[in-house]
Amino acid sequence: MALRSQSWWSGKEYYNFSRRAWLRSEGFTADVFDNRPVIGICNSWSELNNCNAHLKGVAEAVKRGVWRAGGFPLEFPTISLGEMFMKPTSMLFRNLMAMDVEESIRANPVDGVVLLCGCDKTTPAQIMGAASADIPAIVVTGGPMLSGQWRDRKLGAGTDGRKLFDLYRGGRLTEGELCEIEGGLARSAGHCTVMGTASTMASVAEALGMTLPGCAAIPAPDSRRLTLAEESGKRMVEMVREGLKPSDIMTREAIENAITVNMAIGGSTNAVVHLLAIAGRLGIDLKLDEFDRISRRTPCIVNVKPSGQYLMEDLFAAGGIQVVMNEVLPLLHADAVTANGKTVRQNVEGAQCWNRDVIRTAADPISTEGGTVVLGGNLAPRGAVIKHTAASPHLLQHRGPAFVFETYQEMHAVIDSLDLPVTKDTVLVMKNCGPKGAPGFPEWGQIPMPRVLLDQGVNDMVRISDARMSGTSFGTVVLHTAPESAAGGPLAAVRTGDEIELDTAGRKITLHVPEEEIARRLAECPAHKPHYERGYGWLFLEHVNQADEGCDFGFLRKDFRGQ
Ligand code: FES
Repeated sequence: MALRSQSWWSGKEYYNFSRRAWLRSEGFTADVFDNRPVIGICNSWSELNNCNAHLKGVAEAVKRGVWRAGGFPLEFPTISLGEMFMKPTSMLFRNLMAMDVEESIRANPVDGVVLLCGCDKTTPAQIMGAASADIPAIVVTGGPMLSGQWRDRKLGAGTDGRKLFDLYRGGRLTEGELCEIEGGLARSAGHCTVMGTASTMASVAEALGMTLPGCAAIPAPDSRRLTLAEESGKRMVEMVREGLKPSDIMTREAIENAITVNMAIGGSTNAVVHLLAIAGRLGIDLKLDEFDRISRRTPCIVNVKPSGQYLMEDLFAAGGIQVVMNEVLPLLHADAVTANGKTVRQNVEGAQCWNRDVIRTAADPISTEGGTVVLGGNLAPRGAVIKHTAASPHLLQHRGPAFVFETYQEMHAVIDSLDLPVTKDTVLVMKNCGPKGAPGFPEWGQIPMPRVLLDQGVNDMVRISDARMSGTSFGTVVLHTAPESAAGGPLAAVRTGDEIELDTAGRKITLHVPEEEIARRLAECPAHKPHYERGYGWLFLEHVNQADEGCDFGFLRKDFRGQ
């Protein structure tokens, strides 16, 4: 088999000689040019990304596996996206990282690539880039961090942090207690330990067939993650020899499997956006409706926060994603091929569950439908989503008057005002938080509860925006409203006092204002002023798609110019 890398090394030209010479400056023997698969290890390690801070160690384990199988490992960095640190939002840079991954693979002498990721956007960015480059690729996620701990309480990073911070805002925790919590909330490297976006995307990567079975839930510091990493390196060499590429694994059936698993785990709403983008890279025509169709038939069976009670460590101990997939196997394309060369059925059939309170049976689910519902209606003509399993059941059917914030900044300035004119029935609306409006589609959708209502003991209300929400968040929150207000979507027409109706069962979000009046208001809206006039920000604003298309750049989709 002709290896891609050989076009760099073998031959009689000066550049064949000089490339070998320059690589030997790293101390390798001439044997490495001996027609052996070169395996790139695409590492998103960074000290500016605590979730991925252990990936250098994981890369060493991958290298052992590659050498063991007769390959030649070469590790390379790309940009990393630390969810907690990047301003205005890491999502602004997902497509940039995907381009970095794609072009780093394409430009270099690698025959296959092991993708090391973990924090929210790093997993979809690497999968998108690898899908476009389409040489053999396998994903090794970094795993969830250890469960957080405060005194005798277990804490889930993200979800519990938000709840405890609300207690602090309400004066029910002291400064000293908050400082103690801060020291124990995130106890190791690894991604957030609830079913947030990172845990979701790790599960989605496993469901797509892009990891070895069992990868998603192994805790980051657990020795078994290094074992799996070594096995993944070894397997990558075999995949190169077999010619098994991302496009062979990530078929329409695999994408549908990933959607089903996302629903079964009560996964993050962000998976919707990322899967739409991944499908676009593969030329798979995936519509938002597909998520709702699958959601309606898929029970949510994983009892992990924010939809449930447990944490990722508990999911691992209960048997992990293989058990989940075995439980919903009748809903999966069981013959889909995965990275280990086996089918989904071969990988998961008979997987044993060790704790039925953590992973329920399909007959005794957390909820009979999947975690994410897709809404239509005149307020979201191109769709919106709500994570109904993390919402308050009594608010899923609700009608109330709107209270409008034109921007996130405006909301932030007044949300703690004790004279904010809102009640528990008010529907909070926040505009200009979408891909173009914010910009970058930040996770601002879980608008904080107004202080005045917190003081009355009200912990949830209906909130609507064109933003995303962290997968670790919860509440009756409508997200991804498309088109966004900055792109002329009807959200821009909402005024304080308008009646809004959320009909989750009927899959609708309705602005009870006559259509002619909505059109008149939209015509009067001033044009949105772009945030950037140069550089990557400008490129993003010029080319980003709306949420219902995955917020990728149009020119990165496989169907760009009919390719
Ligand atoms: Fe990285 Fe939560 S901040 S996964």
